[in-house]
This record gives sequence, C-alpha cells and structure tokens, in this order.
Amino acid sequence: MSLRVIQFSTGNVGRHALRSIIRRPGLELVGVHANSPGKVGRDAAELCGLDTATGVVATDDVDALVALKADCVVYTSQAESRPDAALREITAFLAAGTNVVGTSLVWLIYPPHADAWLREPIEAACETGGTTMYVNGIDPGFSGDLLPLAALSLSERADEILVQEICDYGSYDDAEFTGASFGFGTTPDRVPPLFLPGVLASIWGGPVRLLADRLGVVVDELRERHEAWTATQTIDCTMMTVAPGEVAAVRFAVEGVVGGRAAIIMEHVNRLTSAAAPDWPTPPGGRPGVHRVVIKGVPGVEINTHVGDEYTDHNEAGVIATAAKAVNAIPAVCAAPPGLTHLSALPVAQVQGLMP
Ligand SMILES: NC(=O)c1ccc[n+]([C@@H]2O[C@H](COP(=O)([O-])OP(=O)(O)OC[C@H]3O[C@@H](n4cnc5c(N)ncnc54)[C@H](OP(=O)(O)O)[C@@H]3O)[C@@H](O)[C@H]2O)c1
Repeated sequence: MSLRVIQFSTGNVGRHALRSIIRRPGLELVGVHANSPGKVGRDAAELCGLDTATGVVATDDVDALVALKADCVVYTSQAESRPDAALREITAFLAAGTNVVGTSLVWLIYPPHADAWLREPIEAACETGGTTMYVNGIDPGFSGDLLPLAALSLSERADEILVQEICDYGSYDDAEFTGASFGFGTTPDRVPPLFLPGVLASIWGGPVRLLADRLGVVVDELRERHEAWTATQTIDCTMMTVAPGEVAAVRFAVEGVVGGRAAIIMEHVNRLTSAAAPDWPTPPGGRPGVHRVVIKGVPGVEINTHVGDEYTDHNEAGVIATAAKAVNAIPAVCAAPPGLTHLSALPVAQVQGLMP
C-alpha cells in the first residue's frame, strides 16, 4: 500500500520534493501547502513543472492538511526566520499521527545538540501522535553525517576530520534568505545573521557532535571562525550584484575541539562567481562546487562529492539533492520508532523507486 504524503511548501527545495513525490511508486500525494496567494488553488503538477494534473490543489489551510491524517509530511517551508510558526505547524502534524521529514529547522540535524525550546515540544508531539521527525539535506546534512561516516568506515584511525562545502553561489537564486544570512552585498563591518555569536555552532555543531558521539570522543568546545572577502570590482550574478567594497565571499567554520585541538571541523567557502576570493580554496578539477571530507589518519581518506552535471547547474542540483534526501527518507521515517531521529538511528540506504 502506498504511503499518503503531503508536501508543505513549493519553494526552491519544495517544488523538487513535490515532483519527486508525484512520480515515486509507493508514495501517494494527498495534499500540498502553499503560502503565496498566487499558488493557492493551483494543481500540484503545475507548481512543480509537470504536465499531467494530479487533482490535488494547493491550500494555505494547515488544519485541513493536518485533518488528512497522512502518513508523512515533507516540510520544506522557510522556518529559520519563523521558527515559532513552523514549530506550531510541525507539532500539529506530529501530534495528529503524521510523521515529518524536513529540510527546515536545520538545528535538528542532530537532535541531541538542539536547544530545549525546539526539541522538547517536538518530542512531546511525537509521543502524543506515535510519530517520528527527521531533518536533513545536503549541507547541513549529508556532507556532515553520511559522507564522513562513509569515509570513517574506510579508516583504521582518524586524527582529524575536515568537512568542507566549497561552492560558487553565484547562480543560486536566493538573495532574500541565503544572501542576507551570509551577508553578501553588505559591507564587512555589518555582522550578518549567520555570524552572530553562537549561530554557526547551533547549525554545524550538530554534525560535529554526531560524529564525536559515533567515535566515542568528547567535544570540549565548539569554536566558531569566519571571515569575509570584499569585491574589488562589480560582480554581477543571479544571486545579486555586488559593488566594490561589498562582501562577495565568506569563509567560516565550526571546530570541534577534542583533547585540546580542533579535530572535527565543518568549514564553508562560499563565493559569488569564481572572481571572488581567488586565493581561498577552490573545488577540485575546476568544478563550481564540492562537498568533501578529508580524514587525516590511517590510511588517510578524501571523498569529493559533486552534484549537478552538464545539464543541471550545481546550485539547482544542491536543492534537488536536498529534496531527495527528505523524500528518500519517508519509508524509513514512517517505520522508525517515535521521536526526533537522526542519521545514526535510521537505515543508511535511504533510496527507493529511483529507476524509471
Ligand atoms: N540542509 C540543507 O542542505 C538545505 C538546503 C537548502 C535549503 N534548506 C532549508 O530548506 C528550507 C527551504 O529552503 P528553500 O531554498 O526551498 O527556500 P525558499 O525557496 O525560500 O522557499 C521557502 C518556502 O517557504 C514558504 N513560506 C514562506 N513564508 C511562509 C509562511 N509565512 N508560512 C508558510 N510558508 C511560508 C514559501 O511558500 P510559497 O512558495 O507558497 O510562497 C516557500 O515555498 C529552508 O529552511 C532552508 O534553510 C536546507
């Protein structure tokens, strides 16, 4: 029997999740949420670029979606900027018996690391509804959990784990959230939301702690570092136009200190076009982006992941992969014991019905 699924939002990630749900054997789309008035009332197929109508139309009525008692909702709505509202929506589904897989609320990649204000109401709703919630994506997500765990499975000994996203965000059409959070197009004296004290650690500290727990080591401290590169000439790209003197690249990291040294490191280098920060690390092979892990130890392991190809831009591929991460997890999450879950508690091979 198919799992009855709701897609909550049809933004950059959500429209790919929606398309994937409609096409997958074993999943039945029963509801779609839209926030924009221009999307409400439109068929799901139209909202994700498919030709054949599904008969499921988008609604902004959250109560009506909860009342569908679906098996799972794929929650990809913007949540970091409206956490209280997102929490209300998510807990309503969980308490009513609908499992949640999501890409939002990225603090929940490793729930033991998340703050109590977020974790506790979700745990309570899972208990009430006998349901499970799982949050993941490409980064944070895959690059900081499944990718290093794959590399660690080849390691006799690990002295240092370095996870990096090195990516040209120039073609990423998300100035409003990513651009503003990272501080692109502002002057370097202005502190963007991502670099406020504690924010980096709240997001990328989770994967650090997940790996530390898997390795049985204690993280003494999570250190944050960040720097900005300012444009020397105008940079014009899909994300935005950056004037000379404005930020066009950022480099930041969360370092897990173990035994007095930075041993588990999650680092980002994000630039707007290859013209920005030419002296900072670049992806191997001239590619525009990479999610990579480098393990120093025995024998020493490096894995470079490139999403996208000659047909699919790497930033578009990143959101397709993020949506796939959520949709692929639906059967495993529906079968999991109740509670907030994470990669270490789920079957690793979350793929399903992928071939046409
Ligand atoms: N971990 C990862 O690798 C990763 C990667 C990418 C994104 N993400 C996360 O995934 C989430 C979605 O990202 P995105 O790039 O798809 O964002 P996006 O393109 O901005 O889409 C956000 C969606 O949120 C909906 N929304 C906005 N305001 C809302 C409100 N007040 N009530 C209900 N819905 C509202 C919008 O609905 P309408 O379309 O109807 O207006 C839109 O579909 C974010 O939380 C982001 O942090 C994670």
